[in-house]
Amino acid sequence: MKLKVIIMRKRLAAGNWKMNMTPSQAKSFISEIKPLLADADSEVLFFVPAIDIQAALAAAEGSNIQIGAENFFYEDKGAYTGEISLDMIRDTGAEYVLMGHSERRTIFGESDEWINKKLLKAIEYGMKPMVCCGESLEIREAGNTLGWIEAQIRSAFTGVSAADAANVVIAYEPIWAIGTGKVATTDQAQEVCGMIRKLIADIYDADTAEKIRILYGGSVSPENAAELFAQPDIDGGLVGGASLKTSFEKIAKA
Ligand code: 13P
Repeated sequence: MKLKVIIMRKRLAAGNWKMNMTPSQAKSFISEIKPLLADADSEVLFFVPAIDIQAALAAAEGSNIQIGAENFFYEDKGAYTGEISLDMIRDTGAEYVLMGHSERRTIFGESDEWINKKLLKAIEYGMKPMVCCGESLEIREAGNTLGWIEAQIRSAFTGVSAADAANVVIAYEPIWAIGTGKVATTDQAQEVCGMIRKLIADIYDADTAEKIRILYGGSVSPENAAELFAQPDIDGGLVGGASLKTSFEKIAKA
């Protein structure tokens, strides 16, 4: 008889502050939420604006709270006015980096090719990458969600080895659910997250698919988090608005 090894994926509750919080606000918020999150079983992480990283890291010192960068550029260094490199981020001590968020894709024109370059560079620098994907309402209504997500994932992971892919976190964020209060139903969220896991098994192998963590994002709240995170292929959440409040504690413990 062949025994199946069950890999327990550590749950991850990640906040994405977006363009909110000054360094002083970051410091006071992390100091306030730190004791509330101390006994969370899940991994806890806040993606913060680059200028907040050092203040947030200092406030989080000695706690289970991790700090990541919301954005970076894929070149090592050079004449890229206003951009921030992975070398700069890594030097602060931040480990996680976010890429492929729909706001970066739609407002700042980041292409699938860019996301792939960012992922390869994050791996090269030994960072912990989180890659977002998600469909618009038009794509969902046209019945093209799964194909769209598949194309985004295949493109993002081009040239990434199985060993590196297993350490990437994928966040599925339907664009129509971001900041709208319109959360995907648990069935909709599970359907896409389950498809992503099957796709990873197809691109790589079953072991990589079992290991990779897939999060849901889009209007996650203290009220709906537990039901979403109870789905078999949802390993936690990427949380925007609700990560700016201390009630994020409830999401981290859901
Ligand atoms: P909201 O949780 O505010 O809908 O934002 C989701 C998101 O974009 C997180 O990256």
